[in-house]
Amino acid sequence: MALSELPPALDEGGEPGAEPPLLRMPPPGAMSRAWLGRLQGVDAPWTEARRARRAQLLGFDHAPIVIATAKGSNLFDLDGNRFVDFAAAFGAALVGHGNSRVVRTLEMQLERTLFGLGDVYPTDAKIGLTERLARLFPEAGARVLFGLSGSDAIDAAMKTALLATARPGILAFEGAYHGLGTGPLAACGLRPEFRAPFAPHLTPHVRFLPYPSAPRRDGTGGDSLDRALAAVDAACKSGEIGAVLVEPVLGRGGVVVPPTGFLAGLREICTRTGALLVADEIWTGLGRSGAMLRSVEDGAVPDLVCLAKGLGGGVPISACIGKGAVMEAWRTPKGRAISAEEQEEQPHGEAIHTSTYAGSPLACATALAMLDTVIGTKLVQRSRDEGDAFRDALSAALGEGTRVIDVRGRGFMIGIEVEGGARRGLGLMHDLLQKGYVVLTGGKGDVLTLTPPLNIAKALLDGFVETVAELARLREP
Ligand SMILES: Cc1ncc(COP(=O)(O)O)c(C=O)c1O
Repeated sequence: MALSELPPALDEGGEPGAEPPLLRMPPPGAMSRAWLGRLQGVDAPWTEARRARRAQLLGFDHAPIVIATAKGSNLFDLDGNRFVDFAAAFGAALVGHGNSRVVRTLEMQLERTLFGLGDVYPTDAKIGLTERLARLFPEAGARVLFGLSGSDAIDAAMKTALLATARPGILAFEGAYHGLGTGPLAACGLRPEFRAPFAPHLTPHVRFLPYPSAPRRDGTGGDSLDRALAAVDAACKSGEIGAVLVEPVLGRGGVVVPPTGFLAGLREICTRTGALLVADEIWTGLGRSGAMLRSVEDGAVPDLVCLAKGLGGGVPISACIGKGAVMEAWRTPKGRAISAEEQEEQPHGEAIHTSTYAGSPLACATALAMLDTVIGTKLVQRSRDEGDAFRDALSAALGEGTRVIDVRGRGFMIGIEVEGGARRGLGLMHDLLQKGYVVLTGGKGDVLTLTPPLNIAKALLDGFVETVAELARLREP
């Protein structure tokens, strides 16, 4: 079967996997505990160190569940407990778990081939996805570079910016997260703790500036847009900045929404000073924040945009998509003509940016199915409409007595900031698990981060609102 004959979506009428929580025993049960015991002593020890630190902070051990199966918006652990998934694989399960179209496409591609030969002999699946992603970019002529993770895509963007501008400087933002490979790690503004142990390996050309936030729901707080943009302007005017790297909404940093006009302001500064605008849409993109590309929706066509997380529908793949003129730098880097010696030494040319599994046919095929599902079942619009309504319902329910400072976000990317810091945020994460809801925390551990599948059933959203409001009233610091 050719890719043009991909099976039609079966899931338009809704998939199984829209069940409320059902707990057979307090999680984690005996099976989860037994399997976790096996992980201890063989997993890299930082997970154990983190668990111990959290136990110290909370005054109890928040032992994890072990996930066995998943369907739609439901996760099942080894003990047969059924949860509703408001984490959705760190926001990646855009079309839910086990989406029938993604799964059937995966099965079909398994029959065809698991391997291609990357940049030497591509597969039809890779060609199909490359075309598709180039068309996703709002300007004609875009080009695509594949990777396996979000970190890879940012790495590709950083390299592209250097080739295209010949300027090593990168402007990044406090609170930002772009992945932990040594390229992107240098631009991780979330906390110095991430960078410090590896500092000798990181580029020293990154400068961090404050990421401005819109006012809280009660109108208090928020940063001046003019002040934030003036700082970016001053930094870019130095002529040393090759790329301004920005998340259109801070994800891991605590779902921080910038004031209206921030992205458009960055676009104007970059155009004027010759820096490239790099939109990290690894979290916000593909419908998660209620837009296919949040930067474009916010008035800024970036020079480079990075996608990952949900792109492959569960199979790892990422992409750095760039304006044609910018990506030309991979043919002719700015200010770096190929010398006669290089030409003599490498007359056949080298693949200077690739990896064995980049553009793997399995991931390319499922990415096409994932995009078809998002577009065919109008999930971008659903994320915007239902996500915003969900946020408003949460905000209304999490009023007085709940010690919630703010409820914010775009689409199905929502943060609930609580009083009491990480102790209370992580405490609520634990309480919610005990009620059958899987959530994560962001920011400084004080923001419950909600990123459910974009097709989550309305009844599950309503159930969550009720439960979180009840728990927030109960939990002391
Ligand atoms: C905005 C953003 N950029 C980059 C990354 C890194 O992606 P990955 O974990 O796939 O390397 C993440 C991961 O959470 C992210 O949220």
